[in-house]
Amino acid sequence: MSNGDKKGKFVTIEGCEGVGKSTQLRLLKEYCERQGINALFTREPGGCGVSEKIRSVILDPENSEMTAVTELLLYCAARSQHTQTVIKPAIESGKVVICDRYCDSTAAYQGYARGIDLNVVDSLNKAAMCGVKIDCTVFMDVPPDKGFARKGGVDAGDRLERENMDFHRKVYEGFKEIERRESERFASFTAQGTKFETHELIVKELIARGIF
Ligand code: TMP
Repeated sequence: MSNGDKKGKFVTIEGCEGVGKSTQLRLLKEYCERQGINALFTREPGGCGVSEKIRSVILDPENSEMTAVTELLLYCAARSQHTQTVIKPAIESGKVVICDRYCDSTAAYQGYARGIDLNVVDSLNKAAMCGVKIDCTVFMDVPPDKGFARKGGVDAGDRLERENMDFHRKVYEGFKEIERRESERFASFTAQGTKFETHELIVKELIARGIF
């Protein structure tokens, strides 16, 4: 199934920690409200009751014994529930769904950084996506050292964020590899200007792609 025969669109936003995703999502939300765009903003892991519960298990720093494959399965379990019950119905009802992180985070974090076989990650992602297709991925192309400097350090309450810099560099390289493979789907922004300049560039790109 593709979204081509439907009115709705599906946009994901991806990047390393502290790259300004939250700010850009807030600006996009305000833009959609001003323009009367029928948009749904959601996030992963999370976005619905079951998946928010899974999120708290995944990110809990007390769960330091969690294995890489368990982590992968939990992200995909959260995605499957969120996609089937929230994302897919919203796309089908004609909304522009904008999701904070999605399958590329799983490939970058659990595949490239944790080192799980990418074919396994891709198969699980495929199952969890329940047939939806991403129309555009907004990639905040900021390396992790800059990201952590911008956000003023690590959030100690987030198990993934507490990983070392080597891990986060692998995540970044993973995103860059996916960007090369999926260059048409990816719209990348280096966030060199102000947050408002970056916001304008993102909006222009989404208009050019027929999403807004
Ligand atoms: P957030 O901080 O953007 O809310 O994301 C939570 C953390 O989960 C972040 O460190 C990235 C990580 N993550 C994965 O490792 N795999 C995934 O599939 C997703 C969606 C997020």
